[in-house]
Amino acid sequence: MWGALPSWLTADENAQMAVQELCPVMEENPIDPSIYIDYQGKRVYFCCMLCKATFEKEPETYLAKLPQLSVDPEAPDAEPAHDHLVDHGAPDEPSRLLTFMGKFHPVAIHIPIALVLVAALAELLAMMTRNGTFEKVSRFNINVAVLGAAVSVGLGLLAGMSADFPGDYARPFWLHKWIGITMAVFIAVAAVLSELACRRGGSRCRWGYRAVLLLCVALVGAAGYFGGQLVYGLNHYAW
Ligand code: HEM
Repeated sequence: MWGALPSWLTADENAQMAVQELCPVMEENPIDPSIYIDYQGKRVYFCCMLCKATFEKEPETYLAKLPQLSVDPEAPDAEPAHDHLVDHGAPDEPSRLLTFMGKFHPVAIHIPIALVLVAALAELLAMMTRNGTFEKVSRFNINVAVLGAAVSVGLGLLAGMSADFPGDYARPFWLHKWIGITMAVFIAVAAVLSELACRRGGSRCRWGYRAVLLLCVALVGAAGYFGGQLVYGLNHYAW
């Protein structure tokens, strides 16, 4: 069970958390008080964002695991007050489409991540072997990575539009978003430098390209780190 309950919880939330200790999806995992949704007027907590998304897809499957939703035979037949999934989930078609497109962000991001790493490896091999073929391989990969990063940022912004990252998740979300956008910009700068280096020759553009490429590798790592925290929980990387 998590340590002392966070101070920003209301008395009612305290009561509900006191009742629900484990994630309804990953039953062995304690809940994370900052990951929750309001379902049928009750707050439901999860251990990570992935479980929250899983629950939102088919809540009926997990209702029996939620003490706060179990029907109290004594209580009068209460009308389900506000169904978060029904009332908010499907406002109108366009936003449903944008929300749907945002779900492809975790898929698309593998393109710029892989291509930046391959471009860096090829550039390293070009330096070690002085074989110009590797420079061409690096140039090709970084150019395609520009496209991949642009698509990933676009889908990321859509994903960010329909997801909420409250409390402790706000900062990793903000950092992820802006590291992602910065990374896309520097990938474009690297592509321009690699073009200049290939067309004009000379070492200045080449070394400029290598320096910016190294920065892109670091930004890939940081974007992936905070992205993973958003999906798998803040303690995901805890040893
Ligand atoms: C090219 C830049 C970017 C990269 C490489 C990147 C990478 C990632 C990674 C690795 C994840 C975790 C995916 C998983 O393991 O399932 C992730 C998740 C996420 N990213 Fe990005 N990201 C980028 C840009 C952005 C931007 C600009 C935003 C804007 C807000 C954003 C919003 C999100 C959101 C909301 C999630 C969670 C998705 C979910 O809940 O399924 N990302 N990103």
